[in-house]
Amino acid sequence: MNVARIRADFPALAAPASGPAPVYLDSACMSLVPTPVLRAMEAYYREYPGCAGRSLHRFAAQVGARYEGARERFARFLGRRDPRSIVFVRNATEAINLVGQGLPWKRGDRVVISDREHNSNLVVWQRLAAERGIRIEVVRLPDDRPWDDEALEAPLARGVRLVSLFHTSNLDGSTLPVRAITERAHDRGAKVLFDGCQAAPHRRVDLDGTGIDFYAVSAHKMLGPTGIGVLAADPRALAELRPLTLGGETVERTTLDGHVLRPPPHRFEAGLQNYAGVIGAGAALDYLDSVGLDAIESQQRSVNARVSRALAAYPRVGRLGPPDPADRPSIFAFTLDGIDPNDAALFLDEGHGVMVRSGLHCVHSYYAARGLSGNVRASFYLYNDRDDADALVRGIEELLDRVPGRRATGTSGAKAGSSTRPGPARRRGAGSRGAASRSAPPRRRGGRGRAAYGGGSG
Ligand code: ALA
Repeated sequence: MNVARIRADFPALAAPASGPAPVYLDSACMSLVPTPVLRAMEAYYREYPGCAGRSLHRFAAQVGARYEGARERFARFLGRRDPRSIVFVRNATEAINLVGQGLPWKRGDRVVISDREHNSNLVVWQRLAAERGIRIEVVRLPDDRPWDDEALEAPLARGVRLVSLFHTSNLDGSTLPVRAITERAHDRGAKVLFDGCQAAPHRRVDLDGTGIDFYAVSAHKMLGPTGIGVLAADPRALAELRPLTLGGETVERTTLDGHVLRPPPHRFEAGLQNYAGVIGAGAALDYLDSVGLDAIESQQRSVNARVSRALAAYPRVGRLGPPDPADRPSIFAFTLDGIDPNDAALFLDEGHGVMVRSGLHCVHSYYAARGLSGNVRASFYLYNDRDDADALVRGIEELLDRVPGRRATGTSGAKAGSSTRPGPARRRGAGSRGAASRSAPPRRRGGRGRAAYGGGSG
């Protein structure tokens, strides 16, 4: 895989007229968009700006064909034979809401989640518990490994309607064994929903092969635009859902007294759609396939391994998630003893041009249970390389040197068992993207805390 060639496809990674190119390590929040995807979206507005499924003219025919083409593309990418199992929504959050609001719940029905779900796979169930009397069972995940095979047994034995879990964690990058979980849940009559936001962009997913009932993804984490997501459902499971919104395109016919809904997926796609976004998302899948998910995963592993190896030498760096980077290839999540995570993120950006995410990562209870104020997360994708890894490591080393740890006295940045520090890596092109040009301490934005940084908790 030629990362230099890939980087050239991403305008956001170009170096500005003066200064180094950005080091983007926040793809778990939002991936960057390559030129072919930007072109595909622009082509819609420039060349065939029609609305699908309504008018008969040529623009409308073209957008209709491309919109349905993108549906087929998502089905292929996610391993669904039937494109009618793909519903376009705004994002994975909306897909989870569609399942939550759409299933025919009865009072006392149970849903199983884990103790480290993103808020979008938590609050929807809490509202259903409050308003419709469903019960939430929380499986506690072990810290030293992603899954305990027996964890589901007790709740499943009590009778569960839906098991709803992340596939890959946005918090630490660990991945759950979705096939085994699905089999266990199905054996006990429960359906499964997986939030695939952090998995589908990085690894091959075979939804029909694993029998997963509902799978949610967001295009903005897989090189596509914001505002587009997919619920990829088993057709029988989809037929059970009640649409979240109704209107044009959702009905076969109406009278003043009633209506007949169209079959899935169109009954779930009310009103004019984000055609440019859907077409762009389809082009993003073409791009990912042209590079190959296996190659992407292996590149991320090696970047992550380089960061993990370098930082393992610093006792003040606390890593979250599995020790082996191969078990969390897209994410390196960490704390720095004595340093606020938001301060660290600002320092890395302003001092070293390294963009990471900090805060509670939309999984608040995880931090509350461990007395943590948050953490820093570097996340990797196909355009990251060893220079990016080195820039991150250099930034963290400098921060450790400047800010004393809570436990240390005077040797805050000391590296365990070694006095040798990695030398400065030369950046591609003119000069360095790293320390020399960016060694200033961060500009404060008004003190510590979430409000001061305008967010970070999700
Ligand atoms: N946007 C969320 C994150 O950054 C999912 O982890």
